[in-house]
Amino acid sequence: MAWSYGQFHVKDFEESHEKQGLEATAKRRAQETQQQSTSLQSNTLGDSKKGANLFKTRCAQCHSVKESEGNKIGPNLHGLFGRKTGSVDGFSYTDANKQKGITWEEGTLFEYLENPKKYIPGTKMAFGGLKKGKDRNDLITWLREETK
Ligand code: HEC
Repeated sequence: MAWSYGQFHVKDFEESHEKQGLEATAKRRAQETQQQSTSLQSNTLGDSKKGANLFKTRCAQCHSVKESEGNKIGPNLHGLFGRKTGSVDGFSYTDANKQKGITWEEGTLFEYLENPKKYIPGTKMAFGGLKKGKDRNDLITWLREETK
């Protein structure tokens, strides 16, 4: 008498299981990548205390955020968010800065401050850039409050 265990598709079962596993991993990776890139953008709240310190050490010799303090080597940054490039009265900008034609907000500042000379070729702002996304985020978080 021939015993038959029927067609027990152990192999098929394993294969489909493995495939699901791979799909799940791919999905998880995609989510992780997305999270990483969001955290590098400036719309997540940074550490404004660190931002204050960055401003003091990296920007304050050329810029003020207080309206009453006017322009220094660089234009006054009071009211920066929502205004067009090169629009502070009485500051003598380069054409490059004036003609950039974007509006300063979190996203544009995030890109600009990484490498000002790349974002505005021909700018006279003598600043190499803040290479760390976290530093820019902290600084922008502070600026958003202090330039109001
Ligand atoms: C050595 C002086 C100097 C330093 C340091 C400096 N800036 Fe500037 N910044 C300038 C000058 C000068 C301009 C005008 C550039 C032009 O007209 O080409 C400028 C322009 C700008 C603008 C464009 C303003 C507008 O109205 O379009 C922003 C924003 C800005 N700076 C932010 C910063 C921040 C934030 C820091 C610190 C991370 C910083 N700057 C560091 C001198 C400086």
